[in-house]
Amino acid sequence: MADHAAMTIDAIDFAQLYRDHMAAAGGRRKPPEEWDRRAACYADKCGSAPNSYVANFIELTAHDDCGTLLDVGCGPGVIALALAPRMTQVFGLDYSPAMLARMEADAAAAGLLNVSGILRSWEDDWSDVPACDLVVASRSTAVMDLDAALKKLDAKARRRVCLTSPVGGRFIPPELFAALGRSPPPRPAPPDYIYVLNLLHRMGRRPKVSFIANTSQFAEPVDFDALVRALSFSLGELSGEEQRRLKAWRETLPEDQWRFRGGPSHWAFVSWET
Ligand SMILES: C[S@@+](CC[C@H](N)C(=O)[O-])C[C@H]1O[C@@H](n2cnc3c(N)ncnc32)[C@H](O)[C@@H]1O
Repeated sequence: MADHAAMTIDAIDFAQLYRDHMAAAGGRRKPPEEWDRRAACYADKCGSAPNSYVANFIELTAHDDCGTLLDVGCGPGVIALALAPRMTQVFGLDYSPAMLARMEADAAAAGLLNVSGILRSWEDDWSDVPACDLVVASRSTAVMDLDAALKKLDAKARRRVCLTSPVGGRFIPPELFAALGRSPPPRPAPPDYIYVLNLLHRMGRRPKVSFIANTSQFAEPVDFDALVRALSFSLGELSGEEQRRLKAWRETLPEDQWRFRGGPSHWAFVSWET
């Protein structure tokens, strides 16, 4: 008799499929020092107001019934600090000391006394991380083991979890590979939010999903050094020759075309009750 179970979605191990997909896409766990080096520039670029991503994230986050917040992969705390005035206690968890230092400095400057940093990685033991009413993970779930990460978020949330995950996996537009003289990567694009939904379904959760239009760092007019920094962060150090090519290409562009259609064009905002 035919084995019909093998023909259904139930046969798919989404946790393993995600890990395989991440490996095939060349995903790697970045050491915290790589994020440390980005802390100041990331905070200025991604936290500066008005920032429609942050405003959209806050608007979509139901928090009226929540007094405590855990922000995982908090970076400089753009979400943690925006929600802190409405909370009694806020914890920002990140493995980058420089990101946490920036969050704590900005909290102090804003007179927010209820914000604490937790120096920890996704992969560490979280047994002493406090459970909170609301747990968020904004733009921070590009981990090697998504199933483990979602279970950790779920276990720490007394009421709900809100996270964002990319729609479509590539951040760097193909024209920038061409400008560097590199061929576009033959690898598949990294995994996107659809894994989050499937894994949560397997966990017995009922996620809601909305979409936030994304302004890619490659879609904005940026100065040349910022572009080199952003590309090096994603692709590894650019050679001198690649930087010369990029500069020559940049100089051929009229100012009004100094704008790229970097993807993904949306973030999926996924939330669920625990
Ligand atoms: C793109 S930033 C997002 C920051 C912030 N949540 C936001 O939306 O602006 C990703 C953050 O995740 C942190 N991160 C990356 N990998 C991590 C890991 N394995 N454990 C803990 N934090 C990590 C980085 O240090 C960085 O601050």
